[in-house]
Amino acid sequence: MSLHQLLAIENLDLAVKHRGSMRPLVHDVDLAVGAAESVGLVGESGSGKSMTIKAAMRLLPRNASVGGSVEFDGRDVNRLGRRDLARFRSRDVALIHQDPRAHINPNRTIAQFVTEGVVHTGMMSEEAALERACALMRDVGIPDPEKRLKQFPHQLSGGLLQRVMIVTTMLPSPRLIFADEPTTALDVTVQSDVMAILMEQVRDHHMAMLFVTHDLDLAAAVTDRLAVMYAGTIVEMGTSGAICSRPLHPYTAALLKSRPSTTEVRRLTAIPGRPLAAYEVTKGCSFAPRCPFAGDQCRNEAPKRRLVEGRAVACHRVEEIAQSLQEGAS
Ligand SMILES: Nc1ncnc2c1ncn2[C@@H]1O[C@H](COP(=O)(O)OP(=O)(O)OP(=O)(O)O)[C@@H](O)[C@H]1O
Ligand SMILES: [Mg+2]
Repeated sequence: MSLHQLLAIENLDLAVKHRGSMRPLVHDVDLAVGAAESVGLVGESGSGKSMTIKAAMRLLPRNASVGGSVEFDGRDVNRLGRRDLARFRSRDVALIHQDPRAHINPNRTIAQFVTEGVVHTGMMSEEAALERACALMRDVGIPDPEKRLKQFPHQLSGGLLQRVMIVTTMLPSPRLIFADEPTTALDVTVQSDVMAILMEQVRDHHMAMLFVTHDLDLAAAVTDRLAVMYAGTIVEMGTSGAICSRPLHPYTAALLKSRPSTTEVRRLTAIPGRPLAAYEVTKGCSFAPRCPFAGDQCRNEAPKRRLVEGRAVACHRVEEIAQSLQEGAS
């Protein structure tokens, strides 16, 4: 692991027990996030994005088996003892969920929800936590925070509740934020506000972020590097600008082609077929059944990631098809 990496996931394999056998969900994932760096993890539903985050936080279900390594700041997360693990989860990293309402106790006040983590772990007194929470709530544009803190979750809109989540995440000043589709459950009109607030907080507090989404454009706009995930593994990884202007993997190119343009009206191209989960992959490249460029080798032999133009790409034919990909994606 290079020294500047805060989070380093290497060769992550993950399987869960299903009807008596192990079902692979994530396969050979390499992913690193540097200090104060923002990395996007992009892929369709079921590709294994949330599972990768859960593995990084060691929050997997009991029936899961894990291979490979997860290091945070040079320490092996899978070997942390109980106390260190609790510390890691409460101080070093924080998780923002997709749907705030599903992760908040409706019977407790906003104040209890926001402050319980830092107060329970002894990081802050209740008074200090409430004071800091109020300041952060103002920063994220929540008017009259003292009043809001006394309210219950149902009295807040989804957008406001997700801002409360962001405040809760920021309170212990973690070094890395896992943001798992933080705006997907919100109305479109509030999505961009919440996203802007999250990015502002991450930047102002010099935090690193692993941003999970199915929206390649959004990820590219807010991250330094992107990892594109398909069927439980990363098929392309590189700087966000380079990936969007010159996709090298046919799946990345197809994703770019399937999104609406904000500057021109054109027909969108859907990716044929449906996304596969890792356990549905048989032999060959997992994208081959949907790939217009698939040849015999693609159908028979799984491609390994290799460096092409300074990027990690898992495609047998990348050199041959690069030109057609650029034409198709533009
Ligand atoms: N506890 C579990 N037991 C068995 N399979 C699971 C479990 N959790 C998730 N899966 C399966 O693992 C695969 C990857 O799930 P994951 O939640 O990581 O996908 P995702 O990329 O986050 O998708 P989404 O965009 O829908 O959130 C899916 O096929 C899912 O059905
Ligand atoms: Mg998910």
